[in-house]
Amino acid sequence: MAELAIIGGTGLSSLKNLEIIRREVVHTRYGEPSGPITYGKICGKEVVFLARHGYGHTIPPHRINYQANIAALKEVGASKVIAVAAVGGIRSDLAPGRLVVPDQIIDYTWGRSPSFFEDGLTSVTHIDFTDPYSQPLREQLLQAARAGSIDLVDGGVYGATQGPRLETAAEITRLERDGCDLVGMTGMPEAALARELDLEYACCAVVANWAAGRGEGGIMENIDLHLKEGMDKVRGLLEQVIPII
Ligand code: HPA
Repeated sequence: MAELAIIGGTGLSSLKNLEIIRREVVHTRYGEPSGPITYGKICGKEVVFLARHGYGHTIPPHRINYQANIAALKEVGASKVIAVAAVGGIRSDLAPGRLVVPDQIIDYTWGRSPSFFEDGLTSVTHIDFTDPYSQPLREQLLQAARAGSIDLVDGGVYGATQGPRLETAAEITRLERDGCDLVGMTGMPEAALARELDLEYACCAVVANWAAGRGEGGIMENIDLHLKEGMDKVRGLLEQVIPII
């Protein structure tokens, strides 16, 4: 049974270094996940993989069934999740192409099912979300990056926005004032749902672009190039981290 699950985001619908063993369609009581769960091996170690936006990259951030995705990963026996996500860089050092392991979240999303603990409860349930990411898993990612000489920024506040549109420049200024360092559309409720099911969850964010109104040039400039560069680094990072998990 694979202990580690990888959720791939934009630019990572498949893993080139994953030797695929089989695919499984998992139905959950919360509905269908974004696609079948892929079982495979990286560096000889079993992992499961799920493409967050579907394998054809067709599901927009606000339509993803986050509950079904997390429930499916739990159901197939994963206990740790590395969530790869494309983001925009707000902080001046978070330039396109860089990788970040955030340590905090501010949630601006709305209308998404935020919890497994909603109906049929015997008592109201609250999770401790002071530190939204698993610190041991974050540290393993950082350790792997050091071992592989991969540039990986330690810490940052992830602002989770609703999408699917990108933000206005004023919204980014507000996020910055709030303390956000990076902005993405899929970080929540994914992280909270993982915590509710006791999954160790960490995010590896790939800066695809400068956030709106930041940096030089347009927001979409060279986005595919930066994503590709970042995702190539992610593949290298996964090869380093898998043996130590
Ligand atoms: N904003 C929100 N989500 C994103 C961005 C962005 O600039 N880039 C990649 N995902």
